[in-house]
Amino acid sequence: MPDKSATLILFGATGDLAHRMLFPSLYHLRCDGLLPERFNILASGRTEMDDAAFRDTIAEALKTYAQPELLDEARVAAFLGTIIYSPVSAGNGDQFEALTARAKALGDGPIAIYLSTPPSLFAPTAQGLAGAGLVVPGTRIAMEKPIGKDLASSKEVNDAIGALFPEEQIFRVDHYLGKETVQNLMALRFGNRLFEPLWNSSAIDHVQITVAETVGLEGRVSYYDGVGALKDMVQNHMLQILSIIAMEPPARMDSTSVRDEKVKALRSLRPMDPENVRNLSVRGQYRDGAVKGKLVAGYAEELGQPSDTETFVALKAHLDNWRWTGVPFYLRTGKCMPNRQSEILIQFKPVTHSIFRRSGFGSALEPNALIIRLQPDEAIRLCLMAKRPGLDRDGVKLQEIGLDVSLTHAFAGERRRVAYERLLLDLIEGDTTLFVRRDEVEAQWTWIDSITAGWKESGQKVVHYAAGTWGPSAGIALIERDGASWYDD
Ligand code: BG6
Repeated sequence: MPDKSATLILFGATGDLAHRMLFPSLYHLRCDGLLPERFNILASGRTEMDDAAFRDTIAEALKTYAQPELLDEARVAAFLGTIIYSPVSAGNGDQFEALTARAKALGDGPIAIYLSTPPSLFAPTAQGLAGAGLVVPGTRIAMEKPIGKDLASSKEVNDAIGALFPEEQIFRVDHYLGKETVQNLMALRFGNRLFEPLWNSSAIDHVQITVAETVGLEGRVSYYDGVGALKDMVQNHMLQILSIIAMEPPARMDSTSVRDEKVKALRSLRPMDPENVRNLSVRGQYRDGAVKGKLVAGYAEELGQPSDTETFVALKAHLDNWRWTGVPFYLRTGKCMPNRQSEILIQFKPVTHSIFRRSGFGSALEPNALIIRLQPDEAIRLCLMAKRPGLDRDGVKLQEIGLDVSLTHAFAGERRRVAYERLLLDLIEGDTTLFVRRDEVEAQWTWIDSITAGWKESGQKVVHYAAGTWGPSAGIALIERDGASWYDD
């Protein structure tokens, strides 16, 4: 077992993610007695303030974002007592030294560094810490996405961090991997005998992965513009889901075995090119409309200028390998959609021969489908054909029915952990299984780069959709021209 970290140095500690997710998650872990006994947090951001002022901001954040039933004055005070604050601006050597002195004063236990900063600060921050002597064997480093903005820049980040830390001490965060629902995909696939024999091109017609959000840009336009849905959602979260759906069964549930299989799947993604990219992808941008009855301004209005950044993308992906040849994977994600809905649909092929067909009689036989809902609730539905009750004078009538399992109900009463609780605990305990390895990130970017290059060379622009709809009609056509349709409840 690797040693547990005794100190977490958190950069970007005044940011939104730290307040909404990271500190509340650390607080929950502490309330449950899951943090090491002597564990301290050294928070850092650009803003100048002292420990007391920073703790006040965290006390406020906990009131809003921590689980209300865990909030308790004494526990909050004890948690705040483990936090100190040291401001650092990029390139300010004196501040770096001051931070290092404070980190050393906390003791000489193993350190975990968490970079929740813009990616341009990853390398300088790590180098600053290394220069100050804080990076020793056993020091871990976690980085939030995005790791670069394309393959070349992600390699630069990976090289710079890799020069200071061995790969097994680097924790690239994709918060989707911390979600119970995403981990459950492995339980479903590899904990049941039922599916694996059918999980390939002989029985599966196609796969759909949808991650639809109702939110728009929520004040994040300055980050989002020029990035867009492909790099913000597909490059990371959706390709991680795809890799878990598509991978070969790993030999063991450990970080090397699991990630070896995921990267093989990611490397099988067939690159797009300027000739085929228009047939395989759709870029959309929301204009004004209404989401759940609320009026929403269009993306360009929110930005204050016209933009070619996509807030919706639909893709038809192919994996060139033995298992998946000929099985399209349709991916779709967008902002300002009618529902928050993350779902995977495994569409099986029809039965090879229907015994129910009689000229003029009988009924249509729908092929089976397995629907795995990840968000907002967790459920699995297997669509089966059943005989409708009746005397069948006109032939047997079949109807599709759903075999429904609600994991939300099956595990009612059990606490659903925030993804970051799991990831922070794994970081502190040194388990990289649910973090993204360098070769995975680079395989993801390789495929994404082929799409962005295709868009650029072919001049593929965004098409508009009204906020509150399922994206542009071209997104629907992408799948319908193959004789399938998106699954929307
Ligand atoms: C983030 C993206 O990584 O994931 C956001 O930057 C997106 O644009 C978010 O809204 C979605 O995460 P979740 O957990 O709400 O599905």
